[in-house]
Amino acid sequence: MSQVPRKAKGIVYFIGFTAALAGLLFGLDIGVISGAEGFIQKDFKLSNAVIEFIVSALLVGAVFGALASAYLSNHFGRRNTILFSAVIFVVGSLACAVAPSEHVLIGARFFLGIAVGMASFTAPLYLAEISPEAVRGGMISMYQLMITIGIVLAFASNTWLASYANIGGVVGGHWRVMLGVIAIPAAVMFLGVLFLPESPRWLCLKGFRDRAEAVFRKMKLDEAELRAELAAIEDSLKVRQSGLSLFLENSNFRRAIALGVGLQVIQQFTGMNVFMYYAPRIFNIAGFTDTLDQMWGTVLVGVTNVLATFIAIAFVDKLGRKPIMFAGFVVMGASMFAVGTFFNIGVAGKPELAFAAIAALLLFIIGFAMSAGPIIWVLCSEIYPLAGRDLGVMASTGTNWIANAIVGMTFLTMLHKLGDGNTFLLYGALNVLFILFFLFFVPETKGVSLEKIEANLLAGRPLRKIGR
Ligand code: BGC
Repeated sequence: MSQVPRKAKGIVYFIGFTAALAGLLFGLDIGVISGAEGFIQKDFKLSNAVIEFIVSALLVGAVFGALASAYLSNHFGRRNTILFSAVIFVVGSLACAVAPSEHVLIGARFFLGIAVGMASFTAPLYLAEISPEAVRGGMISMYQLMITIGIVLAFASNTWLASYANIGGVVGGHWRVMLGVIAIPAAVMFLGVLFLPESPRWLCLKGFRDRAEAVFRKMKLDEAELRAELAAIEDSLKVRQSGLSLFLENSNFRRAIALGVGLQVIQQFTGMNVFMYYAPRIFNIAGFTDTLDQMWGTVLVGVTNVLATFIAIAFVDKLGRKPIMFAGFVVMGASMFAVGTFFNIGVAGKPELAFAAIAALLLFIIGFAMSAGPIIWVLCSEIYPLAGRDLGVMASTGTNWIANAIVGMTFLTMLHKLGDGNTFLLYGALNVLFILFFLFFVPETKGVSLEKIEANLLAGRPLRKIGR
């Protein structure tokens, strides 16, 4: 396993941090709506159905953004696509803030979603391609960390703007500010990305070998490592095909796509976003009926999500991807069962049970943040051969958003049809089922170069073994 040269670390982490700002925006946009929707509903006098449209317009836009990014990041480069997404983030956030009607707001949320989809497609891809292999898992987990920080910042700013902020003599309820303020980090990201180099792997793919070499020099790789990186990239470029023809002709590539799609379906059907979008409502079910309690409870969920992501960052390149995944899914399965069981017993008038349910909920968040949250993004950026990586990441990222929308749009109906407790029991059962998927299909990719993973895949090795 190659090591990052000591002097390279600073610049490598600057690059990682800046690209990961895309994750911050992704998180801000995921987190912001839970606190804003109630005020939007009051202001525009909307039905629940219209609110659902406003919430999910962003998720639908993200599907389109992820799909468009496959083309954009292939033709214009990874860096330029991130830059382009930053512009849409700025314009989209401001458009949401000034929307005069629900229709404009739906359109603006869809537009903003395009940026979210673009960022969620391109940033992990860029990070995987530019990171030296010894820190690759950690760098992509840093992206996930930024998502979680974005979510908690949105929860916290919502709580403040909803209840405390005095703007122009009006205290609280400032949903326009909640949505508009995201333009500021978006502008910061735009400026930061101007300083980022293009992905060396993309440069080689487009025949700009000299420029790729210059990027590695800028990253201060030593001579031997630089040669090794370039040779490995060029080796993998011998399979010169576009993603689509690779998809049609190569069943090994199709297997990798199936794995990536499966992983993202699993990430979403853990049920994590049920808590991200509906935490206040779930606190209500647990007997915390005061709005302020619910909002602070939501902040606690967000903080737990951030802190537990450090577990993955610390261990993903040491223990490997799979042991952490197993541990995470056992924790998620058990805690979902616990939440479901407490809700089925009934927490009304039993504060000990209500607190136990919240403890189980927080344990679930820990399980997700230490495993599926970061590591599924890591794996999805590692398993595709270079010539088809754009298409592969498009398929898995697109799936992430479609599955995300399904979870977001079915939760309230599930509560209604299955009952509060059973809904969580069902998610618990799914999490247990997913452990089998890991046993049979998921490779360990710790410390293995992307080129080696690619060679193993294309040689027809079972998916579980492409990392060896
Ligand atoms: C998922 C998001 C989720 C977030 C929570 C990400 O990895 O893709 O859907 O909201 O983690 O931290």
